[in-house]
Amino acid sequence: MLNGRLVELRPMIAEDLGFLATLANTTSVRANVVGWDWPVAPDGQREWLDKAIRDPKNHRLTVTDLATGKPIGLAGLWEFDWHNRSAIAPIKIMPGLAPKGAGTDTIMLVMAWAFYEVGLHRVHGSILDLNAASLGLYLRRCGWREEGRERESIFRRGEWHDLIRVAALRSDFDALPDAEEYVERVCGTQMRSSPAPLVNQWQAAEAVARA
Ligand SMILES: CC(C)(COP(=O)(O)OP(=O)(O)OC[C@H]1O[C@@H](n2cnc3c(N)ncnc32)[C@H](O)[C@@H]1OP(=O)(O)O)[C@@H](O)C(=O)NCCC(=O)NCCS
Repeated sequence: MLNGRLVELRPMIAEDLGFLATLANTTSVRANVVGWDWPVAPDGQREWLDKAIRDPKNHRLTVTDLATGKPIGLAGLWEFDWHNRSAIAPIKIMPGLAPKGAGTDTIMLVMAWAFYEVGLHRVHGSILDLNAASLGLYLRRCGWREEGRERESIFRRGEWHDLIRVAALRSDFDALPDAEEYVERVCGTQMRSSPAPLVNQWQAAEAVARA
């Protein structure tokens, strides 16, 4: 559905459920995401998927490796605010499964989709102060900006951590060197110059024939 350099983002399907349960339960993923939950039982996931695919406020997409077609993560646009045209743009990639750059490729696709197809004005999120990979991905590679900090607001590994509020506007995305490539990947190639209307071509051909 959304094809990047390394990954494809597509709607979740029932065959992804085993992978998604493992992703949710993986220790290094649980340690770095902001939200906390009890371990996920694979049996309960079918009901979760049925609800999730009908949920109008959260559009989750499975991230697959373009080279193998296998699932490697989860991304999308969640918690839509249609009035203010904003949403959260989260990501989880399974450690060890993805090629380097898969996270950046995924978020660039999500931003192009959000700003040029869905019609959003702003994407936002929060990152734990200990999450160097996520800070590198959103702030250094994808043009997001830090907007504030909630001090000692998240309990992780027995300690309190700051939560860093981050966001990107469409203008931040447009300033990235690869923005145009990703817009074309998501929206298709723009018709830069239109061919002469057929009627003009026929008139020109007739004029040549008459001469
Ligand atoms: C955050 C995450 C999506 C990054 O995915 P990724 O595939 O490693 O991303 P990329 O390969 O595109 O790397 C993005 C940047 O972060 C850097 N980076 C990646 N892992 C890193 C780490 N462990 N420590 C420091 N920097 C790291 C990369 O070097 C790259 O920067 P560079 O190109 O300037 O070198 C992935 O680590 C993940 O899913 N983690 C667990 C869940 C999570 O934290 N989700 C986000 C919650 S806010």
